[in-house]
Amino acid sequence: MNLAEFIDGRRDQHRAELSDFLRIPSVSAKSENKPDVERAARWVADNLRAAGFKTVEIVPTALHPLVYAESLEAPGKPTVLFYGHYDVQPAEPLHLWTSPAFEPTVRNGNLYARGTADDKGQVHIHLKALEALHQLNGRFPINLKVLIEGEEEVGSVSLWNFVQNNKEKLAADALVVSDTSMLGKGVPSITYGLRGLNYYQIELTGPERDLHSGVYGGAVPNPLTVLAELFAKLHDKNFRVTVPGFYDGVAKLSSKERKALNALPWNKKAFEQAVGAPGYCGEKGFTIVEQIWTRPTLELNGIWGGYQGEGAKTVIPAKAYAKFSTRLVPGQDPERIAKLVEKHVRKLLPKTVKCTFDVLSTGKPWAASYSAPIFQKAQAALEKGFRRKAVFIREGGSIPFVTQMHDTFGVPCVLIGFGLPDENAHAPDEHLYLENYYSGIKAIAHFYQDLATLWSASDSPAPRSTRNK
Ligand code: BES
Ligand code: MN
Ligand code: MN
Repeated sequence: MNLAEFIDGRRDQHRAELSDFLRIPSVSAKSENKPDVERAARWVADNLRAAGFKTVEIVPTALHPLVYAESLEAPGKPTVLFYGHYDVQPAEPLHLWTSPAFEPTVRNGNLYARGTADDKGQVHIHLKALEALHQLNGRFPINLKVLIEGEEEVGSVSLWNFVQNNKEKLAADALVVSDTSMLGKGVPSITYGLRGLNYYQIELTGPERDLHSGVYGGAVPNPLTVLAELFAKLHDKNFRVTVPGFYDGVAKLSSKERKALNALPWNKKAFEQAVGAPGYCGEKGFTIVEQIWTRPTLELNGIWGGYQGEGAKTVIPAKAYAKFSTRLVPGQDPERIAKLVEKHVRKLLPKTVKCTFDVLSTGKPWAASYSAPIFQKAQAALEKGFRRKAVFIREGGSIPFVTQMHDTFGVPCVLIGFGLPDENAHAPDEHLYLENYYSGIKAIAHFYQDLATLWSASDSPAPRSTRNK
């Protein structure tokens, strides 16, 4: 039996097993879900063992455990590190889900549940591809290291330490990740660039306590008004961020890359349908694809303070809060940007309020060449699974580990996404198109199988220890 037939024969079994994984509410952000997060780690470890890995460990961290597995029984063959995450975003607001977030349900060829697209479904694609290879051949075709973490959705806090303390353990010829999207339905895609992310929170304090707005209003500063004014000033009329120095060093796209990105079969209608806004705006002088993949942004993520309950309450609040973030692109240094943003915010604020400024996290952007032979292997494997040639794209989201690995080891990072941009990752009714899941398993199985011949495809094969970028 060939590989594709073997995998096709197990569709229902694969989907049922993924559903078991999805039923575990492994929400990394909420402490009440800590036991579920740990249960998900054990589920992943058991599944890796069932797939044929003999060395599997659950590594405790300060927060949520990592799952690590390896199989180094293919001497002379390449070593691949596969990375993914088993944690998910909170499911709230629950009432907006058509079927409950942790009760996987099929509708119209899609599987609905939190974590289907981001990232349990995509991790499961790799687990089942590897299992199929192991069952058919009694061994894996290449050397494999697998790292599935439980803190991605809260910034991969513990991972950095683990990478720094386990460099030899994690060393590989390439990093493979499936935690991104396809350009559109039917268009297999390889992502070669991600934006970085800095996250900030500010607290403004005006009066010492909440005040009666009739007794005091007119003569005292209102921190909520000040906050609104502040955010109104952070973009100009061309939707450029007004922080001085923000764009300094931002890498300009080569005309070749610009052409290639804008020539992709990207669909504006599908984009607008997915967003559903009455109108659109973005940095002047750039196409939408350029705006969302290659330009830095500043976004207000949440704003609160004052009275939000039923009816009216006439109050001047003592405090106002905001959470906001900047997406960063190559050429921007996260630490420097954080300083510039804080400086500008402080400069714009009047003396009538006090400001606490916190940088909650920083993260570097990543964009790399896709000329290494492994990218052609990925393209060929995707073509086998999807019957269409894969395109090379950049994306606007962030995966801290990819940058860390690229900086630490300088190896090719192959990001093969099976999600679709409108599958509601992080939102109610998250889902995964099942055909992409099934085709994904076949494509990834072909990919790992074909990597056994990677060296012969390479111009200058060399053992891992002596190769660099
Ligand atoms: N899988 C996403 C990242 C992603 C989304 C990459 C879309 C490419 C396209 C990941 O789980 C995620 O949500 N990352 C966060 C950052 C993290 C530090 C919380 C993000 O991008 O906001
Ligand atoms: Mn993800
Ligand atoms: Mn996510």
